[in-house]
Amino acid sequence: MLVSAGPTREFVDPVRFLSNRSTGRMGFAVARAGVEAGHEVALVCGPVSIEPPSGLFALDNVVSARDMLAALEARLEWCDILVMTAAVADFRPEAPAARKIRKGEMPECLRLVPNPDILAALAPRKGDRVFVGFAAETGDAVDSAASKMRRKGLDMIVANDVTRPGAGFAVDTNEAAILTPDAPPQALPLMPKIELARIIVDRAARLADARRRP
Ligand code: PMT
Repeated sequence: MLVSAGPTREFVDPVRFLSNRSTGRMGFAVARAGVEAGHEVALVCGPVSIEPPSGLFALDNVVSARDMLAALEARLEWCDILVMTAAVADFRPEAPAARKIRKGEMPECLRLVPNPDILAALAPRKGDRVFVGFAAETGDAVDSAASKMRRKGLDMIVANDVTRPGAGFAVDTNEAAILTPDAPPQALPLMPKIELARIIVDRAARLADARRRP
């Protein structure tokens, strides 16, 4: 099982970057649940300050979205399930400065360019693998997640409204709905991230098992 976690950083100059509030907690919970369930788990992780779970098969630390894509590409062949909990920056500065930008040199605007969509980039090599995405939404989580699931060709998406108390970024709990292409959404109550992770791992493993059966 291959799991991505945490944020990515996109540098403006050597000391400043664009990023987001992800702490890695949700991804680490999925990795831990995978290990507990007997999977070999490789974790690809953006910059975080929490300890990774024990028992991992591999841990790749990355910084930017493009680093994360490269690390996941390198491990994709090996896995049967990919769970993308990472909060990948959708854009990056077009031309990061090689030296610290001084106050007097402040540009009037920062030109941004899109980062690769990692799930879309991996999709052509998906084969029989189970791809699980997360959707970080600010309201209207289920509808928006359903269209992300279709657009990215996912087998499952976990929708969390990151504006809800106790859900989303930087907390040990989450409230989510699990969507699959052929069943009604399963709305789950607020629960510890590790419990949600166990449900996700169990459902993903069942899908992977069903694909292996002749
Ligand atoms: O780390 P925590 O503090 O515990 O916070 C957990 C979380 C809020 C980060 C997690 O629960 C969560 O919602 N993760 C998904 C964050 C996100 O990027 O959502 P999105 O709706 O923008 O992206 C949809 C999916 O596409 C995600 O699986 C994402 O990993 C993936 N993606 C996004 C952008 C991109 N360029 N490439 C991608 O593959």
